[in-house]
Amino acid sequence: MNNDDFLEAYLKDRCDIVEDALQRYLPDEDSMPQELHTAVHYSVFSGGKRIRPILCLAALEACGGDIATGMPTACALELIHTYSLIHDDLPAMDNDDFRRGKPTCHKVFGEAIAILAGDALLTEAFVLLSQAQKVRFPAERRLAVIQEIAHAAGMAGMVGGQALDMLAETVEPDFTGLEQIHRRKTGALIEAAVKTGAILAGAGEEKIQAVCRYGTHVGLAFQIADDILNVEGDSALMGKNTGSDATRGKVTYPALLGLEQAKARLAEAVEAAIEAIAAFDSRALPLRVIARFIMERKS
Ligand code: IPE
Ligand code: IPE
Ligand code: MG
Ligand code: MG
Repeated sequence: MNNDDFLEAYLKDRCDIVEDALQRYLPDEDSMPQELHTAVHYSVFSGGKRIRPILCLAALEACGGDIATGMPTACALELIHTYSLIHDDLPAMDNDDFRRGKPTCHKVFGEAIAILAGDALLTEAFVLLSQAQKVRFPAERRLAVIQEIAHAAGMAGMVGGQALDMLAETVEPDFTGLEQIHRRKTGALIEAAVKTGAILAGAGEEKIQAVCRYGTHVGLAFQIADDILNVEGDSALMGKNTGSDATRGKVTYPALLGLEQAKARLAEAVEAAIEAIAAFDSRALPLRVIARFIMERKS
């Protein structure tokens, strides 16, 4: 099997496992209040790539762990990610009408329910992460994972990055400022995904650090690719509008460096990610292949 066939089968298989677990972990769609639960289900089950949970499980596997043990953590990452997308699309933020091939949450359910659906997903993620009966690890390891994810999602990570991203619509940052935005708004949660996978597998400090370096590079690469796709991607494949960054005056890699330079930076970040885990054995093949996929993806 070549790498492309392997990747396609692997991503499909992992996506299905994550999807099943999300169905099990989330409260039923017809729970009360129904509008809130329907909005949560609408946004979660709308065909995301599930790349953060898949990365978490791939890191766990690369460090010799059993992926079944990582499902609650993997799903919590996806809940936090979905919350971030719902809020990112709100009129007060990016004001986007399409996400994952469907009208955005606030377009269907109104802004108040969309805000609350995001709040609910963020909070439920921590319910899931802290449940001893679901996360069958010693309390110390569970706490370490909670701390990593909270830190990555909060002011030092994603929320801080989103604030910088919004502020940059009026005062354009330089290249260092832009890299900071990308590392925080997108990179931090991706880094936490692989780091927590390694922690759950019981990896030693050296391995955890190597996986973290992989995550830092892949996280940056992921957002550079998102910027490039916003310029030259196919909106039908991506399930969201293209050209919106330029319209809103977003500072992006292509806007600041031009498309060619942005692509060169993307390739560098992907190679650096693969290099970071060079010492890992063949169980790290999925991590290596996913890094390339991030550069070549069309959606
Ligand atoms: C989109 O993330 C937002 C970014 C952080 C770049 P994804 O490209 O992972 O979106 P889904 O989950 O597949 O819809
Ligand atoms: C999304 O960044 C980052 C988060 C949601 C945390 P963007 O605003 O660039 O992503 P898209 O293009 O809307 O998916
Ligand atoms: Mg945004
Ligand atoms: Mg956006």
